[in-house]
Amino acid sequence: MSLLEVRNLTTSFKTDQGIVTAVRGVDYRVEKGEILGIVGESGSGKSVGMFSLMGLLADNGSVTDGTITFDGEDITPPRGTDRKGRSAYEKKMRAIRGNKIGMIFQDPMSYLNPILTIERQLTEGIRCHLKYDKKKAREYAIELMGMVGIPNPKTRLRQYPFEFSGGMRQRIIIAAALACNPKLIIADEPTTALDVTVQAQILELIQKLIKNTEAGVIIITHDLGVVASLCDRISIMYGGRIMEEGTADEIFYDPKHPYTKGLLGSIARETGDEKEPLKPIPGTPPDLLKMKDGCPFAPRCEEAMVVCVDHNPGNTEFSGTHRCSCWLHCMEKVSTVAAPGDGADDAAGGVGAPPPKGGGTGGRTDDKHERLVETGGGKAARPHQAGDAQAGVGDDAGPGPEKGGPAVGRSEQPVEAAAEKEPRHNKGHHAAFAGLSKIFGKGVAAHV
Ligand SMILES: Nc1ncnc2c1ncn2[C@@H]1O[C@H](COP(=O)(O)OP(=O)(O)O)[C@@H](O)[C@H]1O
Ligand code: SF4
Ligand SMILES: [Mg+2]
Repeated sequence: MSLLEVRNLTTSFKTDQGIVTAVRGVDYRVEKGEILGIVGESGSGKSVGMFSLMGLLADNGSVTDGTITFDGEDITPPRGTDRKGRSAYEKKMRAIRGNKIGMIFQDPMSYLNPILTIERQLTEGIRCHLKYDKKKAREYAIELMGMVGIPNPKTRLRQYPFEFSGGMRQRIIIAAALACNPKLIIADEPTTALDVTVQAQILELIQKLIKNTEAGVIIITHDLGVVASLCDRISIMYGGRIMEEGTADEIFYDPKHPYTKGLLGSIARETGDEKEPLKPIPGTPPDLLKMKDGCPFAPRCEEAMVVCVDHNPGNTEFSGTHRCSCWLHCMEKVSTVAAPGDGADDAAGGVGAPPPKGGGTGGRTDDKHERLVETGGGKAARPHQAGDAQAGVGDDAGPGPEKGGPAVGRSEQPVEAAAEKEPRHNKGHHAAFAGLSKIFGKGVAAHV
C-alpha cells in the first residue's frame, strides 16, 4: 500500500461569481522514501490540492469528491455539515499535521508569528507532539536550528522572525517541518519567495535532509527546473487536472503531453552541444469559472482538435509509471488498434468512423484555427455525428477516452508513426500567519 494515495480528488470554492472547481478529479500516490514533484503554472490547483489533503481549505472551499488515504488511514475530509464527523476529522488531522505530515510553505513570513520568538514557535510543536518538557524541547530546537544551518542557534532561538533573512526564515520552517520525523513532507514552492542564490542553498538543504529520512516527499513548484535533479516521479498539473505523470526520466526525455513539452521548452536546457532557445507557452491560464469539460489546455494548445474542446480525454498509459491525458494519444491508440481503410468494420468494432477527407473529429490539420472552426462546414466531423453514436472507442482500446465520451475519428497521423510509439494504454494563501499553529494544532494562533 502506498504511503499516500489520492483518488479523484475534487475541490470547489463558493464565490460570488459562482462555483470555482480548482481541483478536478486528481489522482496521485507517494511511496515511502519517494520524492514526487507536482509541477504546473500558477493557478493550476497545486496548493489547493495540498490544502485539501491537509484539511486546511479556506471556509468557502470543500472537497466534493474523491478519497485520500495516508499511512493506511482514511483522511478524506467529511462532506456535508455533520458536526460530529467534522470534529472527529479535525481531531484526527491535528494529530497528523506537523507530526506525521510536515509542511514547508512558499512564504515563511506568512507562517511565522511575528510577535513570538523562534523558540516559542519551534518548541510548541515539539512539546505538543513529542511530549518533551520545556528544557528538552529547547535543546532539540537548538539542535534542529544547527541542522538546517542557522549559525549561533542558542542566541538566535531567542530572536523574532523579523530578525532573520528570508532564507533563514525558510530554514526555520524546514526545521519545524522535520522536527517530528514526519512520514510525509510537503514542500509547497519552498524556494519561490527567495533570492536566486538562496534558492539553490535551500534546495540543497532539503535534498540533504530528506536523503537521511524514510519519508515520502511532495515538492510543489511552477518551475520544472527545480524538480529536475530532485524528484523520482513528476506529475504535471494544469487547470486543476493532472496532464501527465511519469518518472523524472520519462517526463524529461520522453514527454507526451503538449503542455509538458511547452514547460520543457520554457526552461533552460542543453541538448548536446547546442543551447535550445527558450520558448514561452503562449496564452494565459484558464479562467476556472468558465472552464468547460474538455481539455483545459485546449485554448493554448497548438495541436488542439475539435474533440478537445468539449470532451475530457481519459488517460493513456505508456508504461506502468507513465500516463498522459491528451486526445492525441487516444488517437494513436485507435490507429494502432485498427489499420486504415476498414472503416465499416471499425465502426462495428468500436473504433470511430473514418473522418471525411480533409479532417475528422480529432483529425489533425496543420492549422488549429481551421481545425476548430471548420467543424460546422463539413470539413471536420463533429464529435456527436449520428453515424458515430455507436462508434465509440472500444474497450480493447484501453483506458483512453472517458466512458460516455465521444466517438473519435481515426487520427490522420501515419499509422506507422503511431504504431511505433505503441502506447499501452486556503486556507492557502489566505491563512496569514495562523500557519505554524495550524501545523502544530494549537497554541500559537491564540497569540495572534
Ligand atoms: N478561497 C478561494 N476562493 C476561490 N478561489 C480560490 C480560493 N483559493 C484558491 N482559489 C482558486 O483556486 C485556483 C488554484 O489555486 P492554487 O492551488 O493556489 O494554485 P497554484 O497552482 O498556484 O498553487 C486559483 O485559480 C485560485 O483562484
Ligand atoms: S487533448 Fe487536445 S488540446 Fe489537450 S493537450 Fe491534447 S491535443 Fe492539446
Ligand atoms: Mg501554490
